[in-house]
Amino acid sequence: MNLPQRVKLVEVGPRDGLQNEKQPVPAAIKVELVHRLQAAGLTEIEVTSFVSPKWVPQMADNAEVMAGVQRQPGVRYSVLTPNMQGFDAAVKSAPDEIVVFGAASEAFSQKNINCSIAESIERFRPVVEAALAKGITVRGAISCAVGCPYEGEIAPERVALVAQLMHGIGVQHVGVADTIGVGTPLKVQRALDAALTVYTIDQISGHFHDTYGMALANTLASLQMGVWQFDTSVAGLGGCPYAKGATGNVASEDVVYLLHGMGIATGIDLDKLVDAGAFISDFLQRKPNSRAATAMLNKRQG
Ligand code: HMG
Ligand code: MG
Repeated sequence: MNLPQRVKLVEVGPRDGLQNEKQPVPAAIKVELVHRLQAAGLTEIEVTSFVSPKWVPQMADNAEVMAGVQRQPGVRYSVLTPNMQGFDAAVKSAPDEIVVFGAASEAFSQKNINCSIAESIERFRPVVEAALAKGITVRGAISCAVGCPYEGEIAPERVALVAQLMHGIGVQHVGVADTIGVGTPLKVQRALDAALTVYTIDQISGHFHDTYGMALANTLASLQMGVWQFDTSVAGLGGCPYAKGATGNVASEDVVYLLHGMGIATGIDLDKLVDAGAFISDFLQRKPNSRAATAMLNKRQG
């Protein structure tokens, strides 16, 4: 056991969460959500993505949302940029970090970003170069690192290969993503190990969707390897429009409850985080998809 003493959460609810909502979510609501998340102590927030509005209409208000956020010192704001067109648009919003998103599965790469893995790396190359030149940090996401909705199980070697390709073009950090939440702890550890053949423990994070209810177990398995950075989504919002049936990321509230219960610091105020989750869930007219949030909200009423 090699548990970290402190964990950094990247809150991806405003992006990974809201990209998948059927009903329109006004920019003002997204901005308010970001404000509530930073008030709860989140220091890394994935705000939006600069992708084609034809592909993902929910993120069409990207510039408006970025402009509406009142930035707080000590908080870093990231956005997704799949190509130079996205990067050129994003840069006007001055993100602290950009995310290029590739996949360990060829079929998913085609469905999600309309190109092969090799082509995606060539598209990312100038994006990474331009970002680094401007002092913007670059994270990479490796989708389908455990399983793919089109190809089934994915071998760890495929993760290592994409990690190598990303490292080769200067990507500074990779997120190992279980896009469709099919992973179980040993498989997830093998995927992380594959990324660790290229990146250090300080340069990788876990990004776990919770479709099969395994995301917390997978988070614990990652912690036991010393992984200390995770993407999580408030109220368990989310899913990828190109991964049918996949549900949201592991709920931020559940992960914070797990970590604090284990004596691992996050800097996050769980009560305020639950409030942020309740705010967006109220807007979406549903209950937070978080067991910890549900328990805490019930307790408050009781
Ligand atoms: P494409 O059609 O191959 O792009 O799409 P293109 O370069 O041929 O351009 C076609 C049209 O798209 C043109 O417009 C471009 O202007 C426009 P038209 O002339 O037809 O009017 N376009 C853009 N518009 C705005 N911003 C841009 C942009 N690029 C081109 N950046 C593309 C390629 C990548 C753009 C498209 O496939 C796309 O937008 N995909 C987005 C998919 C997406 O956002 N998926 C969800 C996020 S990833 C995720 O959730 C996984 C993650 O959470 C990790 C995990 O869980 O696995 C990160
Ligand atoms: Mg995701």
